[in-house]
Amino acid sequence: MSDNLSHLAGRKGLKQNMFQDLIEQTKSKGKLSEEDMRNLAEEYLIGNANVYGTASFYDFLKKENQNKKVYVCSGSTCLLAGTQDKLKDNLKKTFKEEEIGHMCCLGRCHENNAFHYDGVNYSAQSDKAIEDILAKKTKDGIDNYSVATNIENPVLTAPFTNVDEYYQLFKEALKKDRLELLQEIKESGIRGRGGAGFPMGFKWESCMNTEASQKFIVCNADEGDPGAYSDRYLLEKQTHAVLLGMMIAGYITGANRGALYIRAEYPESVTIVKEAINELEQKGLNGENIEGSGFDFRFKVIEGAGAYICGEETALLNSIEGQRAEVRIRPPFPTQAGLFNKPTVVNNVETLASVPFILKNGGKAYAKLGTGKSSGTKLVSLDSFFNKPGIYEIEMGTPLSTIINDFGGGFKSDIKALHIGGPLGGIVPMSKIDDPIGAGLNLDFESFSENGFLLGHAGIVCIPKDFPMIKYLEHLFEFTADESCGKCFPCSLGSTRGKEMIQKAQHEDFKIDKKLLDDLLETMEIGSLCALGGGLPLGIKNALQYFGDELNEFINE
Ligand SMILES: Cc1cc2nc3c(=O)[nH]c(=O)nc-3n(C[C@H](O)[C@H](O)[C@H](O)COP(=O)(O)O)c2cc1C
Ligand code: SF4
Repeated sequence: MSDNLSHLAGRKGLKQNMFQDLIEQTKSKGKLSEEDMRNLAEEYLIGNANVYGTASFYDFLKKENQNKKVYVCSGSTCLLAGTQDKLKDNLKKTFKEEEIGHMCCLGRCHENNAFHYDGVNYSAQSDKAIEDILAKKTKDGIDNYSVATNIENPVLTAPFTNVDEYYQLFKEALKKDRLELLQEIKESGIRGRGGAGFPMGFKWESCMNTEASQKFIVCNADEGDPGAYSDRYLLEKQTHAVLLGMMIAGYITGANRGALYIRAEYPESVTIVKEAINELEQKGLNGENIEGSGFDFRFKVIEGAGAYICGEETALLNSIEGQRAEVRIRPPFPTQAGLFNKPTVVNNVETLASVPFILKNGGKAYAKLGTGKSSGTKLVSLDSFFNKPGIYEIEMGTPLSTIINDFGGGFKSDIKALHIGGPLGGIVPMSKIDDPIGAGLNLDFESFSENGFLLGHAGIVCIPKDFPMIKYLEHLFEFTADESCGKCFPCSLGSTRGKEMIQKAQHEDFKIDKKLLDDLLETMEIGSLCALGGGLPLGIKNALQYFGDELNEFINE
């Protein structure tokens, strides 16, 4: 990270932003010329190389993607469901091969057949459906999935009433002392839902205690884990829970600006969030001196451009600043020096969406839910291999088998493993879940880590019996190699070497040297700067442990 670049990027604040300019110009002109980039460099007082470095980082800004007309989802569940080859063949009837790109992932894991066309996501279940979409006979891509919970008074899935009623809570909060409100958050014991499980109260307190004239709240809505679409659900169906959570974070920490970084693969989320912010502005619930309280808060929606690593909080901050979205070295932590080097809280969508419940019912009521160390509820995303795919709000500590059988209704076909918590999560063999004692695998942070897995964002991707595990491991290495930010060698080189080894073992007379593979995994795990390179080995090691019978033919002991 360059301090200078961060300060320069901050000159125009959130209002005008080079990253957004890059995206908008690419959208309107189809591609960026060298002159466009030079003009941006001049406008933002940065080097030509910096603008080029940024433009060449993102999938949707890259030259090779600039003439694509349609994008097929290449996420894990669409791959495992085997729907995408046929979909692509169908699209080839209308588009040339070079006009078809890919996006990962569109969050349509509950029905697959997913593609993005003309700014809208679709899941076409038949040839006729594709024809209708391309002929513009079907314009909206609305999808349906089950939503349910196992608690009486839901934290995240209660039906939304209306803005006037909902924001009474906010108006009351603005009359309270911010330390009193922070105490409720701390008492709730809520831990971040973005994957790392860091206590939200400590993060907010650290930002509150850092002296600065400007602070920021950033909502991490870059949900890139294939298999997870719970943040998309919250952004689209519980929008005000997220916005209210951000404003309360601002009130407590002293931040008056909030940015929602929403991935471009969720165009509907971007539109819905912008509409909700407009409504708040019209009702005087957002802006300057809200409700005469002296508290100001303004939102800015920033659309991503196709880079999984932007979900990592420091890469995300670099992205907003218009820098190459490389991971930053910590410390300093974002609460000390975050966006434009100012104190910044970065929280996941689901973490922020839990705030209204905590305010309304008190921190103790939230802490009563769950297991103590893992308090509250967690949204779980179930993919299309379940009989009842959908988003389920589950009390922490609930046995995984309950989620699978009672909520998911079991599986449509034979499943050998569940990949839980995204591409960096663990691969859980079905034997762990079918075990009558349940192997203690419950929905909470501790249970997952004690069993050698990871709860992460709790997206569940089913690996069918007939899908070769080696092919799935190739997909994971390939994903990491594609998405690596390039800042550290163990990840950028390690993932590429891993992918090559696995490909060679499948297609040539070659066996993977077990010692070499173990060394590679250890180097990635210990030596990577962030959990992209550091997290990939977990699932690979799980697969080697539980699916040795299947993988041994590719490996030399
Ligand atoms: C490779 C990588 C990808 C990540 N992707 C996301 C993401 O899509 N959404 C998210 O909230 N957190 C993601 N995180 C975690 C964030 O870095 C950060 O911990 C989180 O946004 C903090 O919010 P929380 O405390 O509310 O969980 C990712 C981390 C890594 C290493
Ligand atoms: S582990 Fe990968 S993504 Fe993370 S900093 Fe290193 S190169 Fe970048």
